[in-house]
Amino acid sequence: MDWGMKNRMQRIFKEDGKTVMLAVDHGYFLGAVSRMEKPTQAIQPLIPYADSLMITRGILRNCIDPKYNIPIVLRVSGKNSVLKEDLSDEEVVVSMQDAARLGVSAVALSIYVGTAHEHQTLLALSKLINEAEPFGIPVLAVTAVGKELERRDAKYLSLSCRIAAELGAHIVKTYYCEDFEKVVESCPVPVVIAGGPKLKDELDVFQMAHDAISKGAKGVDMGRNIWQSRWPVAVISAIKSIVHEKASVDKATKLFEELKK
Ligand code: R5P
Repeated sequence: MDWGMKNRMQRIFKEDGKTVMLAVDHGYFLGAVSRMEKPTQAIQPLIPYADSLMITRGILRNCIDPKYNIPIVLRVSGKNSVLKEDLSDEEVVVSMQDAARLGVSAVALSIYVGTAHEHQTLLALSKLINEAEPFGIPVLAVTAVGKELERRDAKYLSLSCRIAAELGAHIVKTYYCEDFEKVVESCPVPVVIAGGPKLKDELDVFQMAHDAISKGAKGVDMGRNIWQSRWPVAVISAIKSIVHEKASVDKATKLFEELKK
């Protein structure tokens, strides 16, 4: 890896090799999703707790003060909306020049393996990597499942993660699942987990983060389970303790309960 690429990776993954990314890019196909209607107010209080921010260029430019020294993982794929049944029809919508102008630490796009747009999204990933490498910008591939949440099993996710890594992705974001260690073991690049739709309570989120880290994930890239909580700062702090301090679920829950007050 060239110096620029290494430096960007190390900005995202802290000294312990782990990361807590805050995902706030959902609006690119979901619009003003619940509790993210006012991005500045929702995101800014969480910035001091996040290791990086996964975001679109529109929300970055309009809602985030450039004074923050937080690594940006820029969502560069889109061109679909939640109103369509098939969410897999995505393309790259941001140029590498604009990503570089924004000083990003990585670019991110979704791949949809096994869907009608498998070829299109894998080609988009490959082209993005070709364009990002000369800039020293890492590419994060999201193994997206669209509305087919039932696809989230080890067999499918390990196939998707491995394909992303084979094509040259530097980081892969996937879902936690049963036998998650199989997904990680067969993927030679760092794997981080998304949170998915909001879980019943915060304890479930801590359990998922804890299990993922203990089975080899290098961190989380979570959104709704953090900022859709009534206590987002308490949730992200508890997750941070799991990721960076190896806190148990009990310890993280105690921290969460204290911070809630
Ligand atoms: C999809 O909308 C994005 O890739 C999100 O960044 C990703 O799903 C993570 O967010 P969440 O934890 O809410 O699933």
